[in-house]
Amino acid sequence: MSETPSSARLWATPAGIRLGPLDLIADGAARNFVLQMRAGRFHGFALRRGDRVHGYVDRCPHMGVPLAQHLDRYLTPDGDLVLCSWHGALFDPETGLCVGGPCAGQRLTPWPLAVVDGAMVTAAPSITP
Ligand code: FES
Repeated sequence: MSETPSSARLWATPAGIRLGPLDLIADGAARNFVLQMRAGRFHGFALRRGDRVHGYVDRCPHMGVPLAQHLDRYLTPDGDLVLCSWHGALFDPETGLCVGGPCAGQRLTPWPLAVVDGAMVTAAPSITP
């Protein structure tokens, strides 16, 4: 008998999940990821900056909703900042710190990612703040 995956929302992923090649994301762009696991479903997004990726849980600290109302539209038009499409909160893509808008000073929740042999892989949380 197969086990039905839970519909619970997850806020983190185990380390070591391969998301695909880095080239899934154009340099300077962002992409949504939804991972269905037995324990539930995780929603996150990744930002590519050259050979690095930054990942965040897709949840705005202002009201707890996903940031993008259109698929993969997580950035300001110039690509410099992460933008929440609901009330305009702006976030630093490197740190997740809200630098403007209704949740200034709060942060996106990091989703640790690494690039291994040209592929994006979920990583263990960093122990340094
Ligand atoms: S829900 Fe993101 S700015 Fe309000």
